[in-house]
Amino acid sequence: MIRAVIFCFLVLGFLKVAICLRIVGISVPSLKQRGESATLTCDYSLEGGRLYSVKWYRDNEEFYRYMPRLRPPQHHHTLDGVKVDLEKSSARRVHLRDLTLRSRGVYRCEVSEEAPSFHSAQAEGLMEVYYLPREGPRISGHERRYELGDSLDVNCTSARAFPAPDLQWLIDGQKVTDRSWLIAYGAKPAPQGLLVSTIGLRAPVRQRMKLRCIASTGTHRREKTVVIEANTSCRHKPLNLIIVVILILTSTKYISVKIT
Ligand SMILES: *[C@@H]1O[C@H](CO)[C@@H](O)[C@H](O)[C@H]1NC(C)=O
Ligand SMILES: *[C@@H]1O[C@H](CO)[C@@H](O)[C@H](O)[C@H]1NC(C)=O
Repeated sequence: MIRAVIFCFLVLGFLKVAICLRIVGISVPSLKQRGESATLTCDYSLEGGRLYSVKWYRDNEEFYRYMPRLRPPQHHHTLDGVKVDLEKSSARRVHLRDLTLRSRGVYRCEVSEEAPSFHSAQAEGLMEVYYLPREGPRISGHERRYELGDSLDVNCTSARAFPAPDLQWLIDGQKVTDRSWLIAYGAKPAPQGLLVSTIGLRAPVRQRMKLRCIASTGTHRREKTVVIEANTSCRHKPLNLIIVVILILTSTKYISVKIT
């Protein structure tokens, strides 16, 4: 093993001239929220050569270049959703401000050496831009009075987001999988390129039901729970079933987003 490592060092030592330029690592954040900024780095090793240029592309369109021989060395082109902050950018990094939903794409850095080698190397990474819902989903239709045996007719509507959040109903902690109980209204466009999803629930009314709606975008989840209770305490009154709707949990849970 040790012998193999020594051998590698020796070989690399001899091949140094041939290896020249290589990109050691590129770092493009894979998940960003709209409005945030992002730092993309491109780490390279010139191995004795001289840097000619570092160029950055979003979906094959160049937006930034760094050429040490030019004064100033930095140049940028504004693309839709790609705003470069020159002060925070350099030969090894590019800083993007005010990300929008249009900032998503494949970001590539391309590094070239000067003559005589003209070697170049490139690497790329995908950045997705999300707009996570700012509020929990809304449940509607539960406010009306239900009699036992009625069919519940409620909706769960997400807050504005991108992409459209996935919605899920739970009754008393059980995920509703019966397709005939669910009404998929799909996603509707909202201002600023965002989307709102709605899912309906039609289920037989029980004496007490805990309804929960979960809106998820990746690992980010927000939820809303309401409890529907049937009032069966007063049998002699004609209206012996007064449905009392109690909002027990107006709080929404926020489970932090994992950005890796
Ligand atoms: C649920 O949402 C759909 C689509 O927006 C609407 O047509 C329907 O009336 C809503 N139902 C209730 C009970 O709010
Ligand atoms: C149930 O209904 C009766 C008569 O309508 C009423 O007096 C009682 O307060 C109700 N109970 C609850 C828990 O709302």
